Amino acid sequence: MRIRNLNFVVDGIFNSDQDRTLASPSRSGVFTHGADDRLARFSESISFDYRLYQQDIRGSKAHAKMLCQQGLISSDELESIERELTEIGGLLDRGEMPFRIELEDIHMHIEQELIDRLGDVGRKLHTARSRNDQISTDLRLWVRDHLDILDALLQRLQVAFLSRCQKDHDVIVPAYTHMQRAQPVLAAHYWLAYIEKFSRDRSRIVDCRKRVNECPLGGAAVAGTSLPIDRAYSANLLGFERVAANSIDISSDRDFVVEAVFVLTMIAEHLSGWAEEWILWSTTEFGFIKLPHAFCTGSSIMPQKVNPDTLELTRGKSARVVGNLQTLLVLIKGLPLAYNRDLQEDKPPLFDSFDTVLACLELAIPIVEQAQLQPDVISARLDQGYLDATALMEVLIGRGMPQRTAHHKVGELVAIAKGRAVPLSNLSDAELKSVDESFDGSLREQLGVKGAVAGYRSYGSSSPERVAEQVKRWQASLAVQS
Ligand code: ARG
Repeated sequence: MRIRNLNFVVDGIFNSDQDRTLASPSRSGVFTHGADDRLARFSESISFDYRLYQQDIRGSKAHAKMLCQQGLISSDELESIERELTEIGGLLDRGEMPFRIELEDIHMHIEQELIDRLGDVGRKLHTARSRNDQISTDLRLWVRDHLDILDALLQRLQVAFLSRCQKDHDVIVPAYTHMQRAQPVLAAHYWLAYIEKFSRDRSRIVDCRKRVNECPLGGAAVAGTSLPIDRAYSANLLGFERVAANSIDISSDRDFVVEAVFVLTMIAEHLSGWAEEWILWSTTEFGFIKLPHAFCTGSSIMPQKVNPDTLELTRGKSARVVGNLQTLLVLIKGLPLAYNRDLQEDKPPLFDSFDTVLACLELAIPIVEQAQLQPDVISARLDQGYLDATALMEVLIGRGMPQRTAHHKVGELVAIAKGRAVPLSNLSDAELKSVDESFDGSLREQLGVKGAVAGYRSYGSSSPERVAEQVKRWQASLAVQS
């Protein structure tokens, strides 16, 4: 296990022992005093935005290339800047760069290190750039990178559910509405339901990525710049699809952060519902599924316990993801144009939502792959709960009885069967006739969960043919061999 050494120098460098203020490169000649160290501590973001260092270096290299192409720096200067930025990236990779609160954020840390190494050449990098367009660029690159990681994990989870469709292909389970036994379905139909949900999540990622993928660089502080920059060139180097068109909007826009966190929130909600279901299904009361022991925990006092903590935490952690979305929505509410320092607070909830959902997905995949459905336990109780009542009603409708009448009469049959605590298939001819003159023993042949499942027809239903159709569709779209 590797834990990154962040090498934090929290104290910063004070002007003197008497003057406990801090000098910062963002404080120009206009300041008569250094920053009070309480402000420095209050306002630093390096403790969390260090995570943007790779994106910051990528953005700076593209910016420098553009400055060179436009004649704003020479090619020798570009070469030194690129070389030193790569070196600085290495320092950060190895956790060897000391962080100082007076340098506030990742942008200032990297720039200051460049200046320390290159002097005036380093001082040229920030030409036609502000931290306002810089942070937006870094954040968009980071979100774009992480949406791609997220999508790949969701795809693997879909594949895990899809392979369960084959493993559990002939298992019939009760479907529930209101958590009451409703109708019989194939287990594979259940797994396909989750594949659909995660597919919607993936299409939300695609949509979100479109809006993330536009380049703020060159928007500068708020109004653009009088210097002859080429924004399309740097945007292209960074793989952005478009150049953001309004410099005021650029420095204020965090819609893409909220949107990405909403995408994550829906995934967390889906995972939480699945976790809840499998927690229930793994109870002694249900006994439908056995969870892999590698992802369960024990009790310190009760020796028999195998607890589904991974699933409980997946359900529990969705709460913070929902909370993070709320935090972001409140954060941007009522902010005037354009950049306001409030926006620095967008990063902890964004990072936390990604970290949480990625961690949940990494565990969900092996659990879905390894859990074992318990067909014997499930089938032993399939004749409980009158799962075939709706199928019987549809047989009567097929024979010409109006739906409302058939619905009522099958309800009467269920009441008789319930009174004797037997399934519908145990009703005698006389009992059937007592509800309707036309009912006879032939109705019994229509009963049972197997017949009900085989009888489904509609597109998207749970018959073996329809389910096979969907499995095939997903195999093709997820590019999985059967
Ligand atoms: N740390 C800042 C943030 O995350 C970077 C931008 C700061 N810009 C500024 N003008 N102070 O938003």
